[in-house]
Amino acid sequence: MLESSSILLSIVTSLLFILLLLAASILWNEIVLQRINNFTMAENKEKRILNFVLQNAVRGDPQSVVDTIDTYCSQKEWAMNVGDEKGLILDKIVEETKPSVLLELGTYCGYSAVRIAGLLKPGARLLTIEFNPDFVAIAKQMIEFAGVQDKVKILEGPSETIIPQLKKKHEVDTLDFVFLDHWKDRYLPDTVLLLVMCGMQRKGSVLLADNVICPGAPEFIKYIRNNNHFKCTNFPSHLEYMKAKDAMEKAVFLGPGLESMC
Ligand SMILES: C[S@@+](CC[C@H](N)C(=O)[O-])C[C@H]1O[C@@H](n2cnc3c(N)ncnc32)[C@H](O)[C@@H]1O
Repeated sequence: MLESSSILLSIVTSLLFILLLLAASILWNEIVLQRINNFTMAENKEKRILNFVLQNAVRGDPQSVVDTIDTYCSQKEWAMNVGDEKGLILDKIVEETKPSVLLELGTYCGYSAVRIAGLLKPGARLLTIEFNPDFVAIAKQMIEFAGVQDKVKILEGPSETIIPQLKKKHEVDTLDFVFLDHWKDRYLPDTVLLLVMCGMQRKGSVLLADNVICPGAPEFIKYIRNNNHFKCTNFPSHLEYMKAKDAMEKAVFLGPGLESMC
């Protein structure tokens, strides 16, 4: 009796063990392996944005590229482009300023570069700085697809390295328009670098800073509003594709130009 019950117990234990192995193998294949495959094979968000543009926008039409990115980012996946609402403020200031030489800090997928380039007069050029090589590759394709590659040059690297090279390496004398849209803790040091160290502003040059509320750039705002070389205007708006409050700050340089150390 004792012998037969111990045989039964070992059969049940073996069956349980086999079931456990089966469950583990199903879990491994269906969950772990599938997730690893999804992870290694999936494109990142920026590539998905680019693919959506390539499939849905009109080649050579900057406005169509901008609209298609806005559609994707408002309906499918949020992304840190300046966006449609603040984009209209950016457009208005570019149109009013009629700049010939422009600098953008923070290219990302090339949304604002395409947006700005579509408004430029013949012969004007936009230099845009980006330190993430993956974003540079995406932006390059975006800019070419929009047909504005002759107006836009991407400079790859950190802003703090590239700004001091603008005069000698990229033949920029002074800047008519600067769009600050990179990491917010660089707004103030890069403004000082452009203005005080490299003397890149002329009387009437415009600085336009995005995201001065969300996430905010308080040190930059304090510096620029308390600097009597600048006349500042705030443009209330909302964070791209969201309801959260945000704003852009425009600062017009009143002169005089400063000596360059670059
Ligand atoms: C908000 S996104 C720019 C969005 C873009 N201006 C648009 O509206 O389409 C900020 C970008 O700045 C880049 N960036 C941040 N700090 C930088 C720095 N110090 N130098 C160069 N690129 C920087 C980031 O990699 C990111 O792609």
